[in-house]
Amino acid sequence: MSKGTKTSEFGAPKRENHDSEYFYSSQMYTEITPASNREPDGIENPLPKKLVNSIIQGDSKDLSFIPDSSLHLIVTSPPYNARKNYDEDLSLTEYLALIEKVSMEIYPKLVDGGRFIINLANLGRKPYIPISDYISLIMTNLGYIQRGEIIWDKGASAGSSTAWGSWMQASNPTLRDVHEYIQVYSKGTLKRCKDGRIATISREEFMEYTKSVWKFSTVSAKKIGHPAPFPVELVYRCIQLYSFENDIVFDPFMGSGTTAIAALDTDRKYLGVDIKQDFVDHANERIEAYHVEKRYAKILEGKVKGKKSDKIEKSKKPNKNVKSKKSDKIDKSKNK
Ligand SMILES: C[S@@+](CC[C@H](N)C(=O)[O-])C[C@H]1O[C@@H](n2cnc3c(N)ncnc32)[C@H](O)[C@@H]1O
Repeated sequence: MSKGTKTSEFGAPKRENHDSEYFYSSQMYTEITPASNREPDGIENPLPKKLVNSIIQGDSKDLSFIPDSSLHLIVTSPPYNARKNYDEDLSLTEYLALIEKVSMEIYPKLVDGGRFIINLANLGRKPYIPISDYISLIMTNLGYIQRGEIIWDKGASAGSSTAWGSWMQASNPTLRDVHEYIQVYSKGTLKRCKDGRIATISREEFMEYTKSVWKFSTVSAKKIGHPAPFPVELVYRCIQLYSFENDIVFDPFMGSGTTAIAALDTDRKYLGVDIKQDFVDHANERIEAYHVEKRYAKILEGKVKGKKSDKIEKSKKPNKNVKSKKSDKIDKSKNK
């Protein structure tokens, strides 16, 4: 018999070792199949070498070139269909059909237990179009398990829109969005195969990233050279929380290569697709610049270390019992 807390009328203050069976046997779940917590089947196919760390120019409505069960994590931000210069001006039905087709193509490519994370913004005011609602229905109808939804609070970086509607009047005030959504799905089961894989998240990151509201700034489209980039921080958090070292991270709408940079930075591998050759070229240039920056940082680090070590007494031997933690190697400064 479970000794943990049970769902009570007043909620349980501490939820470690919480027995949730009572809640999941409620009427609410009679029409919803409870998400599977089974062990994943462990089937994984390697990505061909030529696809590892590459960005393909193409249409993500056809992903037949990717082997089944070869991707561990998807992090993406689809075209917003908001008349950005790369957008096709699709009707709502056509737009949702694009997202559905790409998500359907991805399904067999994910390993059992693999995660699919979509960053979305809702659109308009007259009326408001809740894209995130439509997409969560599409994803669950395709068989993905929804794990949760993160509100990305863009804070002051969301810009100071002055579209007030009726200023200080109840006649027609307008909401000014300072947030976006980050929806998290799993394929087949909520669990990933651990099998000796290494998680790279630190304790502090885990405590912070498991909260459902994330606050960090947007990035400048001008600076990145793409009309709608998301910040490396967004992808970094998703990778740290939902994947293991050396996993394959895929972005079907790669744009300026942000997902690739976050993957390299966390010792994962990337694969991306973008329909525009210009964006593929730009993403590859950005990745090359990232590698150059890292090489210089390493050289400088070596020089600084060299200087420091000169000061260390040669007689002092290193303590072999002290091993550096994987998470210590990650430059935490980029998260702040
Ligand atoms: C919102 S942007 C992604 C930006 C990216 N997250 C970044 O940080 O730069 C969407 C991208 O999807 C691409 N795209 C649009 N339709 C596509 C399709 N059918 N297949 C592949 N890429 C597509 C666009 O060219 C655009 O670069």
